[in-house]
Amino acid sequence: MTQAEQSNSSEPSPMLDDVTVDEIIERYERLMEISRNLNSTLALDSLLEKIVVAAAELTDSDASSILLVDKRTGVLRFEAALDTTGVQLSSIEVPLEGSIAGWVVQNNETLVIEDVESDPRFFKGVDEESTFRTRNILAVPMEARGKVIGCLEALNKMHDDAYDESDVSILVTMAAQAAVAIENARLFEQSDLIKEMVHELRTPLAAIKATTYLIPRKEISEEKRLDLIATIQRETDRLTRMTTEFLDLARLESGRTHLKRDTVDLNQVLNDAIYTVHPQADDKSVNLDLVTEPETLPNIIGDDEKLKQVLLNLLTNAIKYNREHGTVTLRARRVDNSIQIDVEDTGLGISKDNLPHIFEKFFRVADTEGYTQGTGLGLAIAKRIIEGHGGNMTVDSEEGVGTTFTFTLPLPHPH
Ligand SMILES: Nc1ncnc2c1ncn2[C@@H]1O[C@H](COP(=O)(O)OP(=O)(O)OP(=O)(O)O)[C@@H](O)[C@H]1O
Ligand SMILES: [Mg+2]
Repeated sequence: MTQAEQSNSSEPSPMLDDVTVDEIIERYERLMEISRNLNSTLALDSLLEKIVVAAAELTDSDASSILLVDKRTGVLRFEAALDTTGVQLSSIEVPLEGSIAGWVVQNNETLVIEDVESDPRFFKGVDEESTFRTRNILAVPMEARGKVIGCLEALNKMHDDAYDESDVSILVTMAAQAAVAIENARLFEQSDLIKEMVHELRTPLAAIKATTYLIPRKEISEEKRLDLIATIQRETDRLTRMTTEFLDLARLESGRTHLKRDTVDLNQVLNDAIYTVHPQADDKSVNLDLVTEPETLPNIIGDDEKLKQVLLNLLTNAIKYNREHGTVTLRARRVDNSIQIDVEDTGLGISKDNLPHIFEKFFRVADTEGYTQGTGLGLAIAKRIIEGHGGNMTVDSEEGVGTTFTFTLPLPHPH
């Protein structure tokens, strides 16, 4: 974790209700780090564990737990808990009526209870099953897509302290992030994407497995053996790219990718992209052209890195699926209130049968399989990025003649 630069001055830090500013900064930095972690975790269990550990730590509590509403039975269940007693809490059902967590869920409100014994809403069932003695509770609702899905609790503020505003704000922030992450993980687990991915992973894995059986055989020549090793390298590269691109796509589909909304100099992005693919084009003796109209394009609002990713995939495709001494033309022009960008090639073209499937994930034209490496995810990702910018992407192709991918990017409204 990146610690805040400690100031060298001998002045004591200003105090805010017993908590120093340095402490608050440190807490928020930790919070930011956790939220970055949440975005990169797809496995729900380990994610929830991280959340309760962090929640207890950041609020100086003895314990913390996440209770989620069981949609089937309408009771609350412990989905994750950090406490010192190690009791199996997962079997305990907490009723919606007659529990603090239930009250928080039903009212969608934060609750701080200084002395649980004197609060009639306190559900004693959990303490009875364990050696844990609850003194005070801070409980916040977890809301995702407008629905309260559960409750995040911190229990027993350390050193007999009371929960303060800063604890509340930290737990509320964590609960909001956790709720979205839980919803996304749930949607993700249900999605067809997982099934497709597993299916797609099997092909390179089978190739690798078959190859490893062949390599040790005595009758294999040295030359063939090197060939087989090259196959393993190629297939593991493909697996690596597939998993990275797959996560990219999963994030885009679940809305977890936040596109930047910066002022983007398209001229720069187009030139960068051409520069990057130049070596690839040279290798295949493919000619690269860039034509812009007007010569200096107006700025747009968007995510320069993601737009470059789109261009790189389209240009790489146009080169990969081109013929020797073919041409790739990158054309950008202003059309009404948008910029239209074409990537045109003189390559193999795509048949009428295949054209409607071209933006589907994992789709690759059978003839091009083995022709060059690929995952079939590039275009699905590119189209989603463009749509995220408020534009659209289409394709036009004639077999044996060439293919043109076209996308638009809206210009910002003049005020
Ligand atoms: N310019 C093109 N000309 C002919 N066929 C193309 C062209 N662009 C894409 N295709 C076909 O569409 C398929 C999907 O393209 P996509 O970019 O999604 O995946 P990929 O290039 O196979 O892999 P990745 O981009 O993930 O490395 C390609 O495999 C190829 O069959
Ligand atoms: Mg591609």
